[in-house]
Amino acid sequence: MAFEKNILCIGAGYVGGPTMTMIAHKCPQYRITVVDINKQKIAAWNSDRCPIYEPGLEELVRKTRDRNLFFSTDVERGIREADIIFVSVNTPTKTFGEGVGKAADLQYWEKTARVIVANSQSDKIIIEKSTLPVRTAAAMERILTANTNGPRFEVLSNPEFLAEGTAIADLENPDRVLIGSRESAAGLRARREIVDIYANWVPRDRIIESNVWSAELSKLTANAFLAQRISSINSISALCEKTEADVDEVAYAIGTDSRIGPRFLKSSVGFGGSCFQKDILNLVYICQSYGLTEVADYWESVVKINQWQQRRFIQNMLGAMFNTVAGKRIALFGFAFKANTGDTRESPALGIARGLLAERATVVITDPKALDHAREDLADVADGDRIVFEPDPYAAADGAAAIAVMTEWKLYGELDYARIFASMSQPAFIFDGRNILDRRRIFDLGFNVYSIGKPALKHF
Ligand code: NAD
Ligand code: UGA
Repeated sequence: MAFEKNILCIGAGYVGGPTMTMIAHKCPQYRITVVDINKQKIAAWNSDRCPIYEPGLEELVRKTRDRNLFFSTDVERGIREADIIFVSVNTPTKTFGEGVGKAADLQYWEKTARVIVANSQSDKIIIEKSTLPVRTAAAMERILTANTNGPRFEVLSNPEFLAEGTAIADLENPDRVLIGSRESAAGLRARREIVDIYANWVPRDRIIESNVWSAELSKLTANAFLAQRISSINSISALCEKTEADVDEVAYAIGTDSRIGPRFLKSSVGFGGSCFQKDILNLVYICQSYGLTEVADYWESVVKINQWQQRRFIQNMLGAMFNTVAGKRIALFGFAFKANTGDTRESPALGIARGLLAERATVVITDPKALDHAREDLADVADGDRIVFEPDPYAAADGAAAIAVMTEWKLYGELDYARIFASMSQPAFIFDGRNILDRRRIFDLGFNVYSIGKPALKHF
């Protein structure tokens, strides 16, 4: 069958894979190819087991793969054949040079632009799917036009708002899709083409159009606002612990105000994930580079509170456990940065595990989906017997002095805590970094229970 359009996505990661699978699913009339330089990743997309865990994803990949969805390592060919190219490569925080620790590392992005130029023989629409600093499209245009007198490129911004763990639902039923372009005739024409793709399943009033800079900046701003809510409630959790207020009660009370709203007010050991910290620091760097020091400082404080919340968690553990955890076995329930994903990037569990190891505890890590990543993340400290990876939570807690809940996996709320209590060394402690446990019931079983932003329940 002849396809209406050839769509290419460069970057087969957490965004490229699920996003293109959804487009392929909803638009059988398009041929979608996803390419990546990582051969193992492409092999995994072409196998029975996707390289990422995301509820509902494998089923959709099975339905669409080799029908109108193709995964390949042949980037050059993909570019030659494409009418529309989504670029969804990683844009991590720079670890070197100017802007180290804050600015976005755009080397993967720039390489992609150069490969596009080198392999294009026809006009193309290039779409920024990755999260990028505002005004990146201008740099992209310069690279694309500097080296060619031939094809014309129109650069658009179509940032992705999916959250891991709910990616498929988010893609199927998005709050909005944002498409930014130049406001020239060619820009508006390209914009219409991208609107038409999403209009196959997204109601038209949820497809927002804007200029390209607003689209780029809206993505960084959305993540900054979401993270800011978490840091705000986490800052209040510390005050709750001093005053016997309960942070969940406070969050509920303020969330019923329709101007505030109830979501993203769950106090926790801190936010993780590959994007919140990276994107806020990027925003901070951009503001600094425009001389907007006050704005930069305001947003940087969101990250600082998040780091402090994690340090505070360890300090609370130490304080409760007689100021030492040296030689004690501590079970971390969960290692993923949130439930329903195997992703551990910037997971608060990482900092907590390292902090406890620095205090000479023995750390036993359990997680239903993230143990492989946990092993890789902690490879530098995994020698010796002070770090253990254990799929079974009961075995993880066996002989432990404390449990710390790091990820809100549903299963951790449903375990037999009487059995766990009986297997632990006494007095047994539980530190609920996600406030998911029935703390009253667990306290009645004999545990000393420490939640975030609530009075501790202690037997002594
Ligand atoms: P990822 O690391 O999972 O995937 C990026 C992929 O790009 C990798 O597989 C890498 O091999 C590939 N790649 C890098 N350079 C390449 C090149 N020159 N040619 C071909 N492939 C190349 O990253 P991700 O989590 O999918 O994030 C991608 C972008 O989307 C980032 O900018 C991120 O901020 C943004 N984003 C991520 C999420 C999320 O939930 N993870 C959500 C919204 C936006
Ligand atoms: C986040 C945004 O929600 C997405 O819209 C965005 O597309 C994405 O970043 C991105 O740009 O990468 P994600 O990081 O996958 O998605 O997951 P979230 O649900 O936002 O959770 C992030 C972190 O905040 C997790 O560690 C989570 O446990 C924590 N969190 C979230 C809280 O501590 N409290 C809350 O109330 C909500």
